[in-house]
Amino acid sequence: MKAEEYRQHIDEALDKCFLLPKDLPQAGLAEAMRYSLLAGGKRIRPMLVLEFCRIAGGDIEAAMPVACAIEMLHTYSLIHDDLPCMDNDELRRGKPTNHVVFGECTATLAGDTLQAEAFGTILRSGLPVERKAACAEILAGAVGLDGMCCGQYLDMLWEGRSLTEQELTEINSRKTGALLAAACQMGVAAAGGTERMLECAGHFGAAIGMAFQIRDDMLDVLSTEEELGKPIGSDSQENKNTYMVLMGREGCEKTIAKLTAFSKTILSEAFDDTAFLCELADALSVRDK
Ligand code: IPE
Ligand code: IPE
Ligand code: MG
Ligand code: MG
Ligand code: MG
Repeated sequence: MKAEEYRQHIDEALDKCFLLPKDLPQAGLAEAMRYSLLAGGKRIRPMLVLEFCRIAGGDIEAAMPVACAIEMLHTYSLIHDDLPCMDNDELRRGKPTNHVVFGECTATLAGDTLQAEAFGTILRSGLPVERKAACAEILAGAVGLDGMCCGQYLDMLWEGRSLTEQELTEINSRKTGALLAAACQMGVAAAGGTERMLECAGHFGAAIGMAFQIRDDMLDVLSTEEELGKPIGSDSQENKNTYMVLMGREGCEKTIAKLTAFSKTILSEAFDDTAFLCELADALSVRDK
């Protein structure tokens, strides 16, 4: 399947989520969740779930709930990341941020609910019980105290202080790398793949995840709001430590190229049919949005 086909498939599956009758008291909460979930987005993480499932020998239809789950989790992280107490941004995926439309309280709850429903979606899926348990465990590890939430905490804690490359990597491998690595591993787990595949998927995801955040930091300086669908200059406004500050544009480009080359080599250690993922890694390394 091509990227565009994957994206359509994922969008169709997401569109079926959280459709509540209007007369239920929590219909407004579901509306806020759907607002951000369906606002667009590149759908990179669910695409990784499906493609890793495929190359690990699994059934991508059976893995679709796992793919939707990681997008729910990711959407929750974006809603909270944009809140006034965090990055204080008013545009996301080309639309006003969740809290601008629904208020801070509902936005916070929409994020919380998306997180819970992500785990529910995996655990209610028709996958064999040991495979869905493995997916849920991988996701919990990637989000919790050692994962995305830890990265977001460090991102806030170390604001305005000049960091070493190692410290910045500590933040970014967790706030962004962990979820991308989890996406790859959850695809393998949904397929019942081997330990070796899991390990290799994790290394690939961590490498493209690091490159992804470096590119994100570059785009915050170099892109436009129209292209990106989110504000430009948000990082400097919030005194964030970024790769652009640490190593400049050329340093960023070189590091991304290295990480991308590494990610493609590592794939061939456990998988054969890697053309799609190699193309995806290349495309992400020069993405404009
Ligand atoms: C944005 O992620 C947040 C980061 C981890 C840098 P994406 O760039 O994947 O955002 P969407 O899903 O396409 O909106
Ligand atoms: C946040 O990184 C990563 C998340 C866990 C959401 P950024 O704060 O740089 O993400 P953007 O630029 O707002 O998408
Ligand atoms: Mg942030
Ligand atoms: Mg942000
Ligand atoms: Mg950013």
